[in-house]
Amino acid sequence: MNLYWVNTLSRTPKRLLASLSIVAVGFIGCTPARETAKAQDYPVSISVQQTVPSFNSDVEALVKMGPRVTGMPVMEQASNYLVAEFRKAGYEAEIQTFTYDKFEDQGSSLTVNGVAFRGLALRGTTAGSLTGHLVSVPNVGRIADFATVNVKGAIAITQRGEIPFTEKVQNAAAAGAIGLVIVNNAADNFSGILTQSSPFPVLAISGNQGKPLLEQARRELLTVTLSINAGQRKVTGRNVIAHLAGVTQPKVLLGGHYDSVAGSPGANDNASGTAVVLAIARNIAQTPQAQKVWFVAFDGEEDGLHGSKAFVKTSSPQLLKGLKGMLNFDMVGVNQPLRVSGTPFLTQLAQAIKTDTVTLGSSSGGSDHASFAAVGVPVLFFHRGLEPNYHKPTDQVVDPTLLNETTRTALKILRQLLAKEEQT
Ligand code: BES
Ligand code: ZN
Repeated sequence: MNLYWVNTLSRTPKRLLASLSIVAVGFIGCTPARETAKAQDYPVSISVQQTVPSFNSDVEALVKMGPRVTGMPVMEQASNYLVAEFRKAGYEAEIQTFTYDKFEDQGSSLTVNGVAFRGLALRGTTAGSLTGHLVSVPNVGRIADFATVNVKGAIAITQRGEIPFTEKVQNAAAAGAIGLVIVNNAADNFSGILTQSSPFPVLAISGNQGKPLLEQARRELLTVTLSINAGQRKVTGRNVIAHLAGVTQPKVLLGGHYDSVAGSPGANDNASGTAVVLAIARNIAQTPQAQKVWFVAFDGEEDGLHGSKAFVKTSSPQLLKGLKGMLNFDMVGVNQPLRVSGTPFLTQLAQAIKTDTVTLGSSSGGSDHASFAAVGVPVLFFHRGLEPNYHKPTDQVVDPTLLNETTRTALKILRQLLAKEEQT
């Protein structure tokens, strides 16, 4: 059983928290000894007492800022916080800016009999407002499903699942529909992405709102208004890059994204990975290993890995070629066991170091390591799988012992990787 001390922000004495597995961020304030302690005070075999407050304080600080959405003022605050923390640990830290066109929903809805159901525009949809009959398409909107109803000149409504959103749109368009509503297969709503822009407005609505509508449209003739108020806005993202002075050719790059989706404070996704990157930075700051690494906190991940793509694009081929590994941390504060995927020699190294690590092949989608894998950099992706709070407002909790375990495992892998590199 792990026992650890947590200092509260108030003047209450230290409390012993026993068997605490999930710590509510914002509930427990911490006053870490970090600011006065030097990095060498944090060896790998650190006692949990020393690391827990630090993890809590980074995750807590980021979560308290609210959802960290790229292009919003909060990202100046978040990136400045990270720069300050890296500098406190002894590194040079800078912000790298980049721009991209971001799809933004400014409020989209389906109005039925004067009642507006708030929905979410699918990323890539055409904007606009149109009124027409609502036709319920059975199942999930395959060609055969559209063949059983007449959607010509009407707004089609069908269920999420089984086939890609873009395919539902194509089938609806081929059948003559003028708009499409996709009902989630769970009670809440979802954020969907179209891989091709749609010829008409496409809206997602929650299962709670949509399932009765699917039924009602089957029974009676409904005239509805589908309104998509969305478009592209140029946004500026901010990567935070840190390394010791004079380190121009890192052998290993450690990173994680610090942005989150709109509406979610992103404790696990991904203040957790950011906190682990900071913890590793503090831990090795006074060791020779720090001469061989760079740290990057990526922005723009949730909109399509924009921060890591920008970093890769602007890095010299020489820098990328010299990397023996890119270690990416994303969602490492909830769930057991620790999972790794990536380049086989790195997953094997991880497995040898921590035998209860689950290796999930070499798949490299879903997070920032993919941008590095795409240009041939060996990658190792640390995560702990999906969890119920993923991309939700309730993503507010992490387990500090899991962050600690991730940090310790990564430190061992880093040490071996750098030692191997010296031999070759
Ligand atoms: N943190 C997730 C990726 C993830 C999911 C890691 C589950 C571990 C377990 C990431 O922020 C995310 O949501 N990625 C998107 C894709 C991205 C290109 C927008 C995803 O996985 O759908
Ligand atoms: Zn993430």
